[in-house]
Amino acid sequence: MIDVLIVGNGAREHALAWKISQSTLLGKLYVAPGNAGTRDLATNISIEVEDIDKLLSFALENNIDFTIVGPEIPLSLGLVDSFQEAGLSVFGPNKIASQMESSKVFSKNLMQKYDIPTAKSMVFSEYNDAIKYLASSKFPIVIKASGLAAGKGVFIVNSFNDGEKILDQLLRKKELGDAGGEIVVEEYLIGQEISVFAFVNEKYISELVAACDYKKAYDGDLGPNTGGMGAYSPPKLEYWNDDIKSEVLSKVMLPVVDAMVSEKIRYTGILYAGLILTDNGPMVLEFNCRLGDPEAQVVLPRLNGDFLNILMEIVKNQGSQSSLSWLEEECVGVVLTSEGYPEKYSKGYPIRGLEQQNKDIMVFHAGTVWDQVSEAIVTDGGRVLTLVAKGKDRGLVRDQVYSYVDKITFEGSTYRTDIGV
Ligand code: AMP
Ligand code: GLY
Repeated sequence: MIDVLIVGNGAREHALAWKISQSTLLGKLYVAPGNAGTRDLATNISIEVEDIDKLLSFALENNIDFTIVGPEIPLSLGLVDSFQEAGLSVFGPNKIASQMESSKVFSKNLMQKYDIPTAKSMVFSEYNDAIKYLASSKFPIVIKASGLAAGKGVFIVNSFNDGEKILDQLLRKKELGDAGGEIVVEEYLIGQEISVFAFVNEKYISELVAACDYKKAYDGDLGPNTGGMGAYSPPKLEYWNDDIKSEVLSKVMLPVVDAMVSEKIRYTGILYAGLILTDNGPMVLEFNCRLGDPEAQVVLPRLNGDFLNILMEIVKNQGSQSSLSWLEEECVGVVLTSEGYPEKYSKGYPIRGLEQQNKDIMVFHAGTVWDQVSEAIVTDGGRVLTLVAKGKDRGLVRDQVYSYVDKITFEGSTYRTDIGV
């Protein structure tokens, strides 16, 4: 039996734990640090995702056979390198490979070198150079911090004055620290955004799977950017069909896998392309080196096969087209958030209604915690839960999820009403 450690504490990691717990190969399951949802499936270990040394000690002391990393931070800090040096088996790209996400300059250079379609861009680290470029630019234009900025490093600017302020914040005042010390200024792209995922190693790329994520806080794509307010998979046929899929495979995903081999970078794990479907075809906005959140919650329920076995094969540099496929079903996920998110919000409110079991609804926890004093699950973050349903018809699946949304209640619960419309 395989003892597994999952690193992370979001709804994505709850979904990973849920899928792994169905494997016939699974022995013990641990999640670090986990949440009140993973507690039902696994033993939560209170080690934060950044604490690579403690995670490694835990894995060694507990003879963990296989580790799965959910979020980007531990990947960018080299968790995979440390675990592999200690002889442990771990799913995810190493530090150099995860620069595909942790450095926009790295991924832009790679895209340019290997002709992968992406917005035209320039890199700057000097304020004066960036200002000169801005003065000769057409608007809107996009300014991006190169490093990881938890979704706060991308600015769409509509005028020279707005751009000047952002450049001042990033390159002079260093408001994002090192993450914004180098910036990418790129052309603004117009079209539908989709997230595309593949499980990859040097020799293998899985069947692609796609989802649409809703990043804005309010209905109609209004309001501030969030970590994601909901998702559905697969995208509508006009955004994800055989033609688009084969174009994304041949122009984006396969060239990246080949580029990694040419660059002698060992990329093993998830390759996540954030794309815009423009009039000139799919263009890459960014690469990430993990599953998306909330995309994971609507993609993993569609996965056919023994998930643990699939991940272990990929780490062993194996993988066969037959071992992984995606169910022809529609999945819709709605995120319940704390009122005020993504800005200021309160936490510690009891969540009611979780005890009702509904076989048609999956409830993935994010910002939740078991409160010892009240002996209840209480809110502990901005994104609290993702409710997911799946079935043959997206409209019916949507109705199913939304009919359940008001049955789970906590003070200030907020959600978008137009996910998957
Ligand atoms: P990123 O972190 O690069 O995915 O950017 C965050 C969000 O900003 C994306 O999901 C898009 O909605 C938007 N965005 C980023 N780059 C561009 C671009 N070049 N053109 C239009 N929108 C963009
Ligand atoms: N849903 C976007 C992300 O995970 O980056």
